[in-house]
Amino acid sequence: MSYTVAVVGATGAVGGKMCMVLERRGFPVGELRLLASARSAGQTRVFREEQVPVQELTEESFAGVDIALFSAGGSVSRDFAPAAAAAGAWVVDNTSHFRMHDDVPLVVPEVNPHHLQDAPRRIIANPNCSTIQMVVALAPLHRAAGLKRVVVSTYQAVSGAGMRGMADLEGQSRAYWSGEPEPEPDKFPHRILGECLPHIGDFLDGGDTTEEVKMVNETRKMFELPDLPVTATTVRVPVITGHSEAVNVELQQALSADEARALLREAPGVEVVDDPAANRYPLARPCADADPVYVGRIRRDTSVEHGLNLWVVSDNLLKGAALNAVQIAELLIS
Ligand code: A2P
Repeated sequence: MSYTVAVVGATGAVGGKMCMVLERRGFPVGELRLLASARSAGQTRVFREEQVPVQELTEESFAGVDIALFSAGGSVSRDFAPAAAAAGAWVVDNTSHFRMHDDVPLVVPEVNPHHLQDAPRRIIANPNCSTIQMVVALAPLHRAAGLKRVVVSTYQAVSGAGMRGMADLEGQSRAYWSGEPEPEPDKFPHRILGECLPHIGDFLDGGDTTEEVKMVNETRKMFELPDLPVTATTVRVPVITGHSEAVNVELQQALSADEARALLREAPGVEVVDDPAANRYPLARPCADADPVYVGRIRRDTSVEHGLNLWVVSDNLLKGAALNAVQIAELLIS
């Protein structure tokens, strides 16, 4: 059995990784249909050692498609995902457009695979990159001791902002080291080289950003805890790939750091790297291009009754986007 798979946004940072993950995991792709804007039509990408043409995305692009992985921005998903589903495809959408719709499940396979059973629109949403890695680390703790409150601060890589985000850091770095005039920021509101920007997405009334609100709402939706107290501060840092997060969690019941470490060691999709005496804790660069969510610095927070601190790192383009989407597709065909 093989499947016709469309990748929408195939020339982008996440789209490219989706193709790589499909190949790396041996997903049974019969035909791969690479879709992007008219600007990219005529380009090719290599898949399983063959050149595959990039085609312009149109409403007719989905005839015969079994699975469509979307990562070309929210407006493209809004405009084209329903057409793909109407043509008979299962849609896995990496944008935020459908995530909070009641009739669209939001799924991380290690956390809530059962939500896939209720997808009446044939659209499944892939959560935000920062949310995915956090909930993978929180799920085993929640199962054992119940979440009571979550406070997270993120340190997010520029690749999370797509090709233009990476180009900003690259252009500024080249100019800095060569003494050339620095290009104006394109994707970010300020220079990202040498900065931590506490600004991801747009500011909302009340002062949160859209990224921060996504982390709150998506976490509540996946854990089916609509009132769970969650608060986030999301920060862009000059790292190319790999989001890092300081996660403070308060649990309903007691759980020691050793018990948490043992649970996380057994948890699917998690790798514990936690040996401070040997300077071992999760780092973004070694975690880039790897599948797991890495967790370290696991320790008690004694300022509250059942508190724990964690340092959580993962490749934002893989588990944070492409890998999670392909894992959802694997569940759909299984
Ligand atoms: P293109 O390269 O032709 O612009 P990133 O987030 O890494 O910048 O990638 C965005 C992806 O979404 C790219 O593949 C881009 O294609 C694609 N894309 C952006 N706008 C559209 C559109 N209107 N129709 C189809 N694909 C689009």
